[in-house]
Amino acid sequence: MEKAKQEPIIKVKNLFKSFKVGENKIEAIRGLDLEIFPEDFIVIFGPSGCGKSTLLNVILGLENPDSGEVTVRGTKIANLTEDEKGSFRARKFGMVYQMPNWIKSMNVLENVAAPLIIEGLKMKFALEKASAILKSLEIECLSGQFPTQLSGGQQQKVELARALIANPWIIMADEPTGNLDSESAEDVMNLLKKLNEQEKRTIILVTHNDDYFNRGTRRIEMRDGKITKDDNHG
Ligand SMILES: Nc1ncnc2c1ncn2[C@@H]1O[C@H](COP(=O)(O)OP(=O)(O)OP(=O)(O)O)[C@@H](O)[C@H]1O
Ligand SMILES: [Mg+2]
Repeated sequence: MEKAKQEPIIKVKNLFKSFKVGENKIEAIRGLDLEIFPEDFIVIFGPSGCGKSTLLNVILGLENPDSGEVTVRGTKIANLTEDEKGSFRARKFGMVYQMPNWIKSMNVLENVAAPLIIEGLKMKFALEKASAILKSLEIECLSGQFPTQLSGGQQQKVELARALIANPWIIMADEPTGNLDSESAEDVMNLLKKLNEQEKRTIILVTHNDDYFNRGTRRIEMRDGKITKDDNHG
């Protein structure tokens, strides 16, 4: 279990990312280095606006950095075309947001299957896989309902199912429990823990809730676009 001997699954090197807003330049990430290891369950926290979501978006290839480099399992994200980035994102990352984005005309089962269908897999296979994942999360009873009719906690679990459908290496969750009551939030946290420990998925969780700071394997504090504390480096 020596972490130092493991190859990082994600490497972020000297990353800078700014946004132009009118005349102003907002420096969201200001020289950030980070190595994430396959077995990590990282909890990222820090004040609003310190660059947490921006960091996730750059790792996902949704935002291009000003300078610096992101490598995911040996692949330099900057070397991919936009199409390749989309496909890489869909296959390697499972995303869970505070406000899930649903295809409103589809029921739960179809929404969970959607990423596979978009990737060109057969409908029957995609639906079977979706059904198996809903079952493993013990929410198969929601299959026929429409996501927008579900409670926040139920939607969050369905979103997690959808994030898992492509068998991703890495699950990123940006404030997934922000809108949930404490019991539903606890369920979601337990699911993430289980995915990390039993399914060996790398988890990156952003949260403001200090109840969850110690629930991962590694805490990272961000401030002003930089990492100010990291359990891995004391
Ligand atoms: N698309 C964008 N255009 C312009 N500015 C942006 C954009 N995205 C982020 N920013 C700015 O970059 C900075 C970092 O934003 P970011 O969303 O990463 O913060 P955060 O740490 O996720 O905050 P929160 O905890 O509130 O979600 C903020 O000043 C924000 O206003
Ligand atoms: Mg954010």
